[in-house]
Amino acid sequence: MKFDTPAATNPIDQLKVVGQPADRIEGPLKATGTAPYAYERHDAAPNAAYGYVVVSTIARGRIRSLDASRARRAPGVLAVITAETAGPLDKGQYNTVRLLGGPEIQHYHQALGVVVAETWEQARAAAALVQVQYQEAPGRYDLAKLKNAAAVAPPGFGGPPDTARGDFDGAFASAPVKLDATYSTPGHAHAMMEPHATVAAWNGDQLTVWTSNQMIDWSRGDLAKTLKIPKEKVRLVSPFIGGGFGGKLWVRAEAVLAALGAKAVNRPVKVALTRPVMFNNTTHRPATIQRVRIGATPDGKITAIGHESWQADQEGGSSDPHVNQTRLLYAGANRMTRTRLAKGDLPEANAMRAPGEASGMMALEIAMDEMAEKLGLDPVDFRIRNDTQVDPEKPHRPFSQRQFVQCLRQGADHFGWSARNPRPGQTRDGRWLVGLGVAAAFRGAPVQTSAARVRLEAGGLLVVETDMTDIGTGSYTIIAQTAAETMGVPLHHVRVRLGDSDFPVSAGSGGQWGAASSTSGVYAACMKLREQVAGKFGFDPGQTAFQDGQVRSGGKAFPLAQAAGLVAEDAIEFGKLGEQQELSTFGAHFVEAAVDPYTAEIRVRRMLSVCAAGRILNPKSARSQVIGAMVMGVGAALMEDLVVDKRRGFFVNHDLAGYEVPVHADIPHQEVIFLDEVDPAASPLKAKGVGELGICGAAAAVANAVYNATGVRVRDYPVTLDKLLAGMPQVA
Ligand code: MOS
Repeated sequence: MKFDTPAATNPIDQLKVVGQPADRIEGPLKATGTAPYAYERHDAAPNAAYGYVVVSTIARGRIRSLDASRARRAPGVLAVITAETAGPLDKGQYNTVRLLGGPEIQHYHQALGVVVAETWEQARAAAALVQVQYQEAPGRYDLAKLKNAAAVAPPGFGGPPDTARGDFDGAFASAPVKLDATYSTPGHAHAMMEPHATVAAWNGDQLTVWTSNQMIDWSRGDLAKTLKIPKEKVRLVSPFIGGGFGGKLWVRAEAVLAALGAKAVNRPVKVALTRPVMFNNTTHRPATIQRVRIGATPDGKITAIGHESWQADQEGGSSDPHVNQTRLLYAGANRMTRTRLAKGDLPEANAMRAPGEASGMMALEIAMDEMAEKLGLDPVDFRIRNDTQVDPEKPHRPFSQRQFVQCLRQGADHFGWSARNPRPGQTRDGRWLVGLGVAAAFRGAPVQTSAARVRLEAGGLLVVETDMTDIGTGSYTIIAQTAAETMGVPLHHVRVRLGDSDFPVSAGSGGQWGAASSTSGVYAACMKLREQVAGKFGFDPGQTAFQDGQVRSGGKAFPLAQAAGLVAEDAIEFGKLGEQQELSTFGAHFVEAAVDPYTAEIRVRRMLSVCAAGRILNPKSARSQVIGAMVMGVGAALMEDLVVDKRRGFFVNHDLAGYEVPVHADIPHQEVIFLDEVDPAASPLKAKGVGELGICGAAAAVANAVYNATGVRVRDYPVTLDKLLAGMPQVA
C-alpha cells in the first residue's frame, strides 16, 4: 500500500479497539517471568555452553601478545576464540568499530575474544587466565580540547549538518536583547535492564541467533556481513527485549562471539555482556558542547537564532543532529545551525532515545528560559510569541499538525503555572526553596517502510506476523488493536508474533517511528486480507463491512471465520507527504523542584507533560512511554554522567552503582495529558510516535525549575549540588 495522500475516513476511525487503553497483551508473560528473553532460551538451545567475553584494558594501541594457553587448559573450557583464531571477519555495515578487536585496539573494553566453557563460572574463571600484553598508544578523549579541531559533520540521519537563512550574524549583532550561552551535556548510557545477550546455534551452515535487538533486518544483514555468510543463512529471533533505547539498534559483540563460539564447539553457545562491560564495550549517547545565540526585540520577537554543536566520535563516525529542533521550533527570520564533529577515541558514540533532540533541547530550552528572563517575559509567554505554523527555514512547508501553543497553555493551566514567582530564589516551603520550570517538547515523526502478514486461522483467529520488535513499548498491543479494528474482531481474537527474521520486514523499533510505521504495515496487510475475504464471499470490497466477526454486504452476512485459510501480506510505503509538510510531535513539560538551601539537595516534586502527537493508539501504553521518557529526562538533568578518564580513555563509572539513574524514590507524581489530535498526513492510522517526545525538553524543564528555586544557573549538565552550592541564596 502506498501512502502518498492524507488518510481519508477508514476502518480505524471506528475506534472500537484502537485508541482504547488496552492492557499489554504480553503483560501476563512478563509479570509471571515466563516471557522468554534471549539468555533464557533453554527451550530452543537446551545444551548451550557458556561464553565469557575477554575485553581490552587499554583504550588504544596494539596487542603485543595474547596467551590463552592457560585458559584453554582450565576446567570445563571448550574453546577460546580471538581475532587470531576466528577466521576472516568483515566490518558490519552499521558499526564504526570492530566488534572483535586485535591486534589493533580501538577502544577500552573492546572485545578481544570469548572463552567457551561448560558453565558460566568456568568460562569466567578461564577468561581471567588469558594473558594480554599491550603496546599502549596515546588517544584523544577530551571534547573541550578536541572541539577546535572539529570539522563539519558528515550528513547523517538528521539531514544536512549546517543550515542558514537570512543574515544571522547581522541580525544577532543588532538585536536589542541577546543571549550568547554555551552549554555542555555529558555522555549517557542506555542502561537498559536486560543486557546485550545472545544464544547462537548452527545447523550446518544455517545460523540461528536468539538475541535482544531492536532492528531485526538491519542486524540480520549486519551479522551475516560480519561473519561473511549470506543473509539468508542467518535467522534472528528477538520476541522480547528488556529495553533498548537505541543501544540495541545494531548487532553487538556478544552476538558475533556467540556465533563464532557455537561454530567452534559445534553446539549452541550463549553470551551476555556483563553490566560493567556494557558501558565501554557498546555505544553511548555522546557528550556535547553547544552554543546557543538568540536575539530578540524588546517585546520578545526572536529576530536571530543560532545553534552550534560539537561532539566527538571514532574515525568514520557521525554526529547526532543536536541542532535539528532549533531549525523547526521557533520563528525568526535570521537563523543558523551548525554541527561539528571531532575525531576521538572513546567508545563508539551512537543513538540513544531521541538522538540529537534529547541533547539539543537540553541546551536550547535553558537558553529560552534565560532569554525570557532577560526580556522580562514569562517563559511560557515567550515561547508562545515565537510560535510558527510553517517550517521557519522553508516557509513554503507547513507543519501537518502543530499544537505547541495549546500544549503550553493547557499545561500552564493544569499545573498552576500562574503561581510561579518570576524572581528566582524567593519561594520557600518550610526549609525548602521551591521553583517551577517549563520547557518545550519537540521531536520529529519519521516513518519507514513496514511489512506484515496476516492469516485467518480456524475459529476466526487472526495471526499477525512481522519482524517488528517490542522493546517494552507496547508494539504487541497496538499491532493487535490495529488488526482487530481493521478486521472487525475483538482484541482477543488476534495473535501477534514479532521479532523473527522469518517474518516480513518491518520498520523495527527506532527513532520514534515504530508505532506509526508498524501499525500502518499491519493495516495494509489487513486491507489486503479484507479484499480477499470479500472476494471469497462474492462481495464488492468497497461495499463490505467488517464488524463483530461478521462480513456484511448488501443484505448478506458471513462469519469472518468462514474465510479461514486466507493469508495476505503487504507493506506500507510512505511517499512524499513528509517532504511537503513537516511531520513533528510537540509537547510542553512542567516541573516543580525543591532545593535544600543548606545542602543544595534537589528534589523533583511534580512533573506534567502535555503532548500532541497525532492519534494516540493506546493511551495506556503511550502514557507509559511518556512517563518513562520523563524519568530519563530527570536522569539527564540531575544524575546521568559518563565520567571520562581523560588520560586512559574510558568511562570510569561503568556499572549501575557509579552510573546513577533515577529510582522510584527520585520520581514524584507524574502526569501526562494527550491533546486530541489526528494527523491524516502522518499515517493511515493518523498516528505518530511518542516514545522519544517525552524525553525531549524534560531535562531542561528540571534545570529551569532548579534555577527558579535557587537563582543559580547551571549550564553544565548534570545539575548537581556541587554546582549550586557556591551560588545558593543566603536564607535564614
Ligand atoms: Mo532509537 S535511539 O532510534 O532506539
